[in-house]
Amino acid sequence: MIAITGASGHLGKATLEFLLMKTTPESIVAIVRDPQKITEFADKGVIVRQGDYEDQASYVASLTGVDTLLLISSAVLGDERVNQHSNVINAAKEVGVKHIFYTSAPNPSLESSFSPAIDHFRTETLLKDSGLAYTIFRNNLYMDVLPMVLGDAVQSGKLYYPAGDSKVSFALRNDMAEALANALTSEGHENQVYDIGANTAWSFGDIASYLSQNGKTVDYIDILGRDYEAELGKHLPPVVAKIFAGMAEGIKKSDFNVPSSSLTELLGREPVSLDAYLKSIA
Ligand SMILES: NC(=O)c1ccc[n+]([C@@H]2O[C@H](COP(=O)([O-])OP(=O)(O)OC[C@H]3O[C@@H](n4cnc5c(N)ncnc54)[C@H](OP(=O)(O)O)[C@@H]3O)[C@@H](O)[C@H]2O)c1
Repeated sequence: MIAITGASGHLGKATLEFLLMKTTPESIVAIVRDPQKITEFADKGVIVRQGDYEDQASYVASLTGVDTLLLISSAVLGDERVNQHSNVINAAKEVGVKHIFYTSAPNPSLESSFSPAIDHFRTETLLKDSGLAYTIFRNNLYMDVLPMVLGDAVQSGKLYYPAGDSKVSFALRNDMAEALANALTSEGHENQVYDIGANTAWSFGDIASYLSQNGKTVDYIDILGRDYEAELGKHLPPVVAKIFAGMAEGIKKSDFNVPSSSLTELLGREPVSLDAYLKSIA
């Protein structure tokens, strides 16, 4: 049986939908904190079990009979997040799960400016040391989060961001979900680390030119990281402003410029490109 954690989230639900196209519902275990959140999958015959990353015993129970697990990274940060992932990995070991897939981030490192990438480095290390087979999906930034980053750039004609000319290999979350479902149901992914993103990369200047449509021009204005963080801090809690500023710093250092053919190969087609995505939401 294949189990998915975080099955109530965007990536988890999308992966479940693609898995249902490839295998039978009774061979899929969807693990969630609140089973009421995914009754639509229970109605389709998917086995829904309760599990909280905070509670290792809940995962020992929910992983019983599971061979392959997709651990979708938690939404909290720091030690709390790594401890949660550790609980799931330990429970998986205890009940005899053979293979864990994990959703990480590009260039995870203890020195990363983007704090979630520090947690991913620590979790990848736990996973590699667990003795279980692992497959790491180093998911690049979701295109889906770009509208939030772009703010009112189209209306104002000004895209302010502190990334210089650095590029990002953005990909659509749905494409990552389809690739996960394909990998979870095929052979040959043991102890592999995949950079999951576009096979190219785009700068914020490229984004501004894609947004310049129908006679409207959008200019990219490269600003200082500290000014960006201060501006975010007017609207967001300081801790959240720091994460977004850290992401921008990581982008500027080219941590997210990781063109790779892995996503194309796992999908068996080209992933959706950034210009096509921006046109689709214009
Ligand atoms: N690559 C990117 O650009 C990017 C962007 C954002 C996030 N991420 C990372 O990728 C992950 C998946 O993305 P997403 O878009 O699917 O995020 P999402 O929609 O926020 O889903 C997060 C999932 O994690 C579950 N979760 C959180 N805390 C949990 C806990 N203590 N125990 C069990 N489950 C828990 C949530 O369950 P509930 O429904 O119970 O809350 C939810 O199902 C995120 O969690 C984050 O680590 C990546």
